[in-house]
Amino acid sequence: MVKICCIGAGYVGGPTMAVIALKCPEVEVAVVDIAAPRINAWNSEHLPIYEPGLDDVVKECRGRNLFFSTDVEKHVAEADIVFVSVNTPTKTQGLGAGKAADLTYWESAARMIADVSKSDKIVVEKSTVPVKTAEAIERILTHNRKGINFTILSNPEFLAEGTAIKDLFNPDRVLIGGRETPEGQKAIHTLRDVYAHWVPLDRIICTNLWSAELSKLAANAFLAQRISSVNAMSALCEATGADVAQVSHAIGTDSRIGPKFLNASVGFGGSCFQKDILNLVYICECNGLPEVANYWKQVIKVNDYQKARFVNRVVSSMFNTVSGKKIAVLGFAFKKDTGDTRETPAIDVCKGLLGDKAKLSIYDPQVSEEQILKDLAMKKFDWDHPAHLQPTSPTTSNKQVSVVWDAYEALKDAHGICIMTEWDEFKNLDYKRVFDNMQKPAFLFDGRNVVDVKKLREIGFIVFSIGKPLDAWLKDMPAVA
Ligand code: NAI
Repeated sequence: MVKICCIGAGYVGGPTMAVIALKCPEVEVAVVDIAAPRINAWNSEHLPIYEPGLDDVVKECRGRNLFFSTDVEKHVAEADIVFVSVNTPTKTQGLGAGKAADLTYWESAARMIADVSKSDKIVVEKSTVPVKTAEAIERILTHNRKGINFTILSNPEFLAEGTAIKDLFNPDRVLIGGRETPEGQKAIHTLRDVYAHWVPLDRIICTNLWSAELSKLAANAFLAQRISSVNAMSALCEATGADVAQVSHAIGTDSRIGPKFLNASVGFGGSCFQKDILNLVYICECNGLPEVANYWKQVIKVNDYQKARFVNRVVSSMFNTVSGKKIAVLGFAFKKDTGDTRETPAIDVCKGLLGDKAKLSIYDPQVSEEQILKDLAMKKFDWDHPAHLQPTSPTTSNKQVSVVWDAYEALKDAHGICIMTEWDEFKNLDYKRVFDNMQKPAFLFDGRNVVDVKKLREIGFIVFSIGKPLDAWLKDMPAVA
């Protein structure tokens, strides 16, 4: 029986391995992590991450050929294929701080693999890493190998949170990079055979190591760039009276452009886009390509601009101050169908409003109070480090913030509403009831363009919707102070 071990039981390691276990019943899959609470949760009725369809997959395989364990060394020692899916955060200190990927967790995983291995292994990079990481990892492994052969592959993950199971069942492509040596090619075939249980061979792309590593960074950079492009257009639409939804539709019908990823919003979030672009920027700078680096940096700058523009819109519309006013924040996750808050635009928007002394009442159907308060207390980039390395008491009681478990509770007596996540339930709220229970004038700022603007204006709301023709009230207000 082929044995697979995955180091890192996070958003990628957990769902990816669960699907491999489901589709390959003859393969034994162990997912290991140093974080005991995470492993306990994977072994419980309440999985540590929310992902539609994940519960069913885990229930079917757990205890059969899928195991979650903190016994990292044992499972690594026994495995034929070791996936490494640990976090690769942005460095917060030292050389490359704020840009380069911090490979501390990756390196310690590689050293541990070298220490405990007693048989040949294929080591698979699942984490997103800088180009040429495989080379560095290979050096660590072969330096300490004690006569054991390690073959390294790059197999970056393209799943999107919120649709992870769907994406894993039916991926656009699986990418496997390996060395162009006989051992490298043999390892590629072994991993390809695992995916071939359910992925058609023509969707399994095999490349060299560096192409696979760079393709992942490039894919995220291109996706984020589309969002920043449409968001840049949204500012121009507001200034001119064009409607960004109509512009997106018109350009998206061009088959060369395509319709996906053209929704204007308050900005992109998630653990990957910003981190991976910063990483790409750093690699370009290190390779003497400042023009290329600056090009990609701009994608992040527009994203930051979009969040700042949103905050300024809120404050300037509400008579230039939100001090002491109750603002209901609907949604905190970085997108719907996930409880993940890493780099969510809600953090920057909430911090901006708190800076202007607003009182926030926050509701998200999947994010806990503890997580929200922690996120609002944390410094940039701290979020992507393991819990034991994060600030110890981030939940200092914050009188300006309350987190509630019901949208109507958040909205009661509010002066304004900010929609931060496109959860379906926000489309279907009883907005007449909401309006009747709010302070007047009642403002709604839709950061995800989910509400029916016309209907809400008829009820009496003053509505701001990203990239849409402005409410008469907002026309003379500056978009960015
Ligand atoms: P995560 O933070 O949810 O999970 C990483 C896990 O690794 C944590 O539970 C941590 O405790 C564990 N870990 C760290 N060092 C360890 C060690 N030495 N031994 C055992 N466990 C260790 O991260 P996530 O979101 O799963 O991302 C993992 C990688 O996949 C990152 O490089 C990310 O860029 C990449 N990725 C993430 C995607 C996403 O949607 N979240 C999509 C595609 C790639």
